[in-house]
Amino acid sequence: MTVGNAGTADADILRIANLTKTYGRFSALKSVSLSVRRGSIHGLLGENGAGKSTLVGMISGQRQPTSGTITLNGIEVQGHDVKEMEKAGVFLVTQEPMIIDHMSVAENLLLGIWPRKGWLIDWKRLRRDAARMLQDTDIDPGQRAGTLDAVARRKLNILRAMFSGGRVVILDEPTASLDVEARQQLFAFMRRLKAEGVTFIFISHYNDEILEICDAVSVLRDGELAGGSDDVGEMTSDMLSELVLGRGLSLFQRQRRTFGADEAAIVVEGVRARNVAVDAFRIHPGEIVGFAGLPGAGAKEFARCLFGLVHAKDGTMRLEPNSPAVKLPGHPFEAYRRGIAFLSDDRRKDGLVGHLSIGANMSLSSLPALSRRGFVDVEAEREIISRYFAGMGVKAPNPEVAIDTLSGGNQQKVCLGRVLATEPKLLILDEPTRGIDVGVKQDVHRIIDELSGQGVAVIVVTTDSDEMIRLVDRVCVFSAGSIVGELTGEAISKDRLRQISG
Ligand SMILES: Nc1ncnc2c1ncn2[C@@H]1O[C@H](COP(=O)(O)OP(=O)(O)OP(=O)(O)O)[C@@H](O)[C@H]1O
Ligand SMILES: [Mg+2]
Repeated sequence: MTVGNAGTADADILRIANLTKTYGRFSALKSVSLSVRRGSIHGLLGENGAGKSTLVGMISGQRQPTSGTITLNGIEVQGHDVKEMEKAGVFLVTQEPMIIDHMSVAENLLLGIWPRKGWLIDWKRLRRDAARMLQDTDIDPGQRAGTLDAVARRKLNILRAMFSGGRVVILDEPTASLDVEARQQLFAFMRRLKAEGVTFIFISHYNDEILEICDAVSVLRDGELAGGSDDVGEMTSDMLSELVLGRGLSLFQRQRRTFGADEAAIVVEGVRARNVAVDAFRIHPGEIVGFAGLPGAGAKEFARCLFGLVHAKDGTMRLEPNSPAVKLPGHPFEAYRRGIAFLSDDRRKDGLVGHLSIGANMSLSSLPALSRRGFVDVEAEREIISRYFAGMGVKAPNPEVAIDTLSGGNQQKVCLGRVLATEPKLLILDEPTRGIDVGVKQDVHRIIDELSGQGVAVIVVTTDSDEMIRLVDRVCVFSAGSIVGELTGEAISKDRLRQISG
């Protein structure tokens, strides 16, 4: 295979012409043509399953096009191979981080920078650079990568692509697990590298991110190029949504509810765990409470205590008004038996079973409830699957296909459908619409709203201020492991939330 290395005066570093990708009879990408300017940040937008990952997969050599051409630096790419493309300076940071768990952070960072013939590699300098890059993060270079959380893994991957000398760096939803501060860090980093001539392709579901960081944008819809602009400055958020959806976007806004102190509530008291010290927390059936705070402030950790994912030394909960207070669940299975459901923010780690079908993944959590004396009620299972498969608008031929072949956002919908199907008393959602496109996000908010209408108490941990404002009745603000304040009504605003989460 050959890849263009010759510097040309061409303003476009990358040109794609009539690119098509089919899987069997299904066309994931249909004759897409677009150009990317050298040294620009080019946004790529589109609904879940629109073909974004498929497109960048072909640009980076991970997937073979069915037909069409890719031209890099004026030379047509022949054969498609990841190693060759990386040599030519094209790097893809995928939606699902590729990290070698048993290696250290520093080793992971240096991975892929293999000594090349005719090149002298200054390993000492590389190590020093690695340490300097990690300085701005809370990641310890000597730490084993397997011990990193989702956010740190994402950061590490982005750093790695940049560190490996990428000239075209493709970021497939890089901000999905980053908090506000880390996102700004990433953007600053990107701007600096752009000034040095690096070109970026940037995939995101957030219009405001596209408008903030990108120079140009292309929008995919159902595998086709729906439109775009060479100058993002002339676009608005509404214009982007319209290109993505093919229609205007109707935003969901919950009618906020207030509850009296004397109304029935789920009461949690005296919780002590690592980085958690919550004296009292109440949530009413039918109420939606948002948890906000900086990373490590305790919001995520407290939510995990309630589901038995984090061990609490102390703490009690009372799910029904007249029932006795019991210890917090020691294990997710116990939590689940009590009627508590949890959606993790890391679907790879505590989420999906890759080789199983969508249907099997969806009904997995409901199986204990569906079984009668050890036998699974097949009819009931089928009903749950079809109700949530259609309800969540999962884009796939049918519920029998394997989860692995779904787009990232559609995998997230399956996770969510699975949790909702358990019909819990208390539902805990950690970043429920991360990776989900703007249209489906509204559907998900409507579904959560409906569930609360049926008396489910819902906790939403989210860094998405828009989601917080539109979905919750009340916000609990976390700091240093405790709940230090509450927002209700008009106080739940972008400005206040920005103050809280950096
Ligand atoms: N190996 C495969 N076999 C069959 N279908 C596939 C395969 N890989 C992807 N697809 C299908 O191709 C379509 C496009 O998927 P792609 O991952 O490119 O979407 P996306 O735009 O990245 O979506 P998201 O925003 O959810 O990540 C989807 O309908 C997906 O199910
Ligand atoms: Mg994708």
